[in-house]
Amino acid sequence: MAKILVAYASKQGSTAEIAQAIAKELQAAGHSADAADVASVVSLAGYAGVVIGGPMYMGHIDPRVGKFVKRHAGELAKLPVAGFVVCLAAVSKDPEGMAWAQKALRKALAPAQPVAETIFAGKLEPEKLSWFQRWIIKRVNSPVGDFRDWDAISAWGRELPGKMGV
Ligand SMILES: Cc1cc2nc3c(=O)[nH]c(=O)nc-3n(C[C@H](O)[C@H](O)[C@H](O)COP(=O)(O)O)c2cc1C
Repeated sequence: MAKILVAYASKQGSTAEIAQAIAKELQAAGHSADAADVASVVSLAGYAGVVIGGPMYMGHIDPRVGKFVKRHAGELAKLPVAGFVVCLAAVSKDPEGMAWAQKALRKALAPAQPVAETIFAGKLEPEKLSWFQRWIIKRVNSPVGDFRDWDAISAWGRELPGKMGV
């Protein structure tokens, strides 16, 4: 059974919880899986595949995702990579927003070519945000609440070993 890393960036914790759910799904399938903040990952040695996830803020994936990919580009080039983005555009499934999220994810993961990629709806808790962030989300009329679809997250996690060929 393979050892898989689920590396994530997260500001408010919702992407971290999704990464942990994916790692649990991989473990349930008999794999060894670690969910870890991108900033804490020193080496990819020993991993047979890497899942990379990050939230969308102001139209861009958390820049720590791109930095992680660049830092480990040599190791990632030899491994199957899967990616996911967490955002609120996925709540309405507005085609323009979804296309933008997919484009942003590909940009953040480049030059890695993901064997699987997806967009998950996230969570927005205004009481945890700064005054300025609350002002931004009000201006863009953002939906507020926890929109994470745990069944969809688990289902994607279950498909990963097959897609990664591990
Ligand atoms: C200031 C701010 C800006 C955001 N910008 C976007 C955005 O451009 N597009 C989008 O779909 N979601 C946007 N979101 C929603 C986040 O992607 C969502 O809350 C996500 O679940 C946060 O992930 P985290 O909890 O891991 O930090 C924004 C949220 C905040 C607070």
